Amino acid sequence: MKVLVIGGGAREHALCRALSLDPEVSELHCAPGNAGIAQVALTHPVDQLDGAAVADLAVSLGAEFVIVGPEAPLVAGVADAVLERGIPVFGPSGEAARLEGSKAFAKDVMAAANVPTARSYLCTTPEEAAHALDAFGAPYVVKDDGLAAGKGVVVTSDLQAALDHAAGCDRVVIEEYLDGPEVSLFAVTDGITVVPLQPAQDFKRALDNDEGPNTGGMGAYSPLPWAAPGLVEEVLETVLQPTVDELRRRGTPFSGLLYAGLAITSRGVRVIEFNARFGDPETQVVLARLKTPLNGLLHAAATGRLADFPDLRWRDGAAVTVVIAAEGYPEAPRSGDPITGLDAAEAPDGTAYVLHAGTATGADGGIVSAGGRVLSVTATGKDIAQARTRAYEAAGRIGLKGSHHRSDIAAGI
Ligand code: AMP
Ligand code: GLY
Repeated sequence: MKVLVIGGGAREHALCRALSLDPEVSELHCAPGNAGIAQVALTHPVDQLDGAAVADLAVSLGAEFVIVGPEAPLVAGVADAVLERGIPVFGPSGEAARLEGSKAFAKDVMAAANVPTARSYLCTTPEEAAHALDAFGAPYVVKDDGLAAGKGVVVTSDLQAALDHAAGCDRVVIEEYLDGPEVSLFAVTDGITVVPLQPAQDFKRALDNDEGPNTGGMGAYSPLPWAAPGLVEEVLETVLQPTVDELRRRGTPFSGLLYAGLAITSRGVRVIEFNARFGDPETQVVLARLKTPLNGLLHAAATGRLADFPDLRWRDGAAVTVVIAAEGYPEAPRSGDPITGLDAAEAPDGTAYVLHAGTATGADGGIVSAGGRVLSVTATGKDIAQARTRAYEAAGRIGLKGSHHRSDIAAGI
């Protein structure tokens, strides 16, 4: 099968790596891709947000299956544009992707489906916001209603900072603070059947000990040895299946990847947010352990055949990924610096490898940084400790001027 992946981050590199190992994939394309993806797929320039351009590219390549990675193209309706040309696509319609694109829409779906989440108010004026903040008290949680590339959520005990963030958004969701460890659980769905993957945890803050600003994610591990044995089953029954059923009931079925960001609170599991795509960097560790060939699973979801899909198979052991970020990330990342040690970081037995996020090919043919999160160094092992040691050993071989990474990813787990 000829497959086209849309996107160009570490998530797409992880997807392309797994797809390239699936014997069913005869030709793998990615657009726009990055310098690392170019080593496993044929890459093509494209404006990812332009549905017609993506659909034209798919047709011109003779793609038989398209996988849309990031949220912005999904919310922009790129999956719809591809489907209109008769090509199966993994990823929800623009309407269904509103589950990620609008926090208020997600809250409405959760309320209708009885899915446990933080109590919240939707506010459109500073007065309403002030009232809602007062009602919940500190710590305050203020969320821009729309997509904001990871910058839309402010969690603070400073009332003025909360009011300022609310004032800077048209519509905000203000909600109660959820205390407890966070879990990311992905599920593949065809709009009816829901197949959960294994849970992962990511590290959102830039610095060790969860200090510093929020980022797109600085590292992740899977599985979660501390999680209750019935967690996945519980989330399937109380969160994932009811949400998929509600969207189908509304006439906007959700097919693709449903990502539940969860807080395990003292009062039970609560949804923090939904995303309509694979999470980054959790995808890197979840796919490192998935034995079931990926293309077959995603294609079954795209073509409504998940009910008959065999149970997923997983590798024993664990996976850890450590993100290497550019100097200045997340505020003002530097780009264009040469990266060294990429080959040395790859373990000959495949237990450690480098996935590219923001990279490009420089003028001299070498690989240079081209984004805030530059690389995601991923390793597997018999347990978290071994995977973690391998990931940090590999990360230590990479040179990028001014770069930083957290040193406590999956520490003490
Ligand atoms: P979101 O974009 O909704 O995932 O929010 C980004 C991050 O903000 C989450 O990963 C949490 O760490 C934090 N957060 C969001 N909502 C809440 C909440 N209700 N209570 C506590 N922390 C939250
Ligand atoms: N890991 C967080 C996200 O993908 O949104």
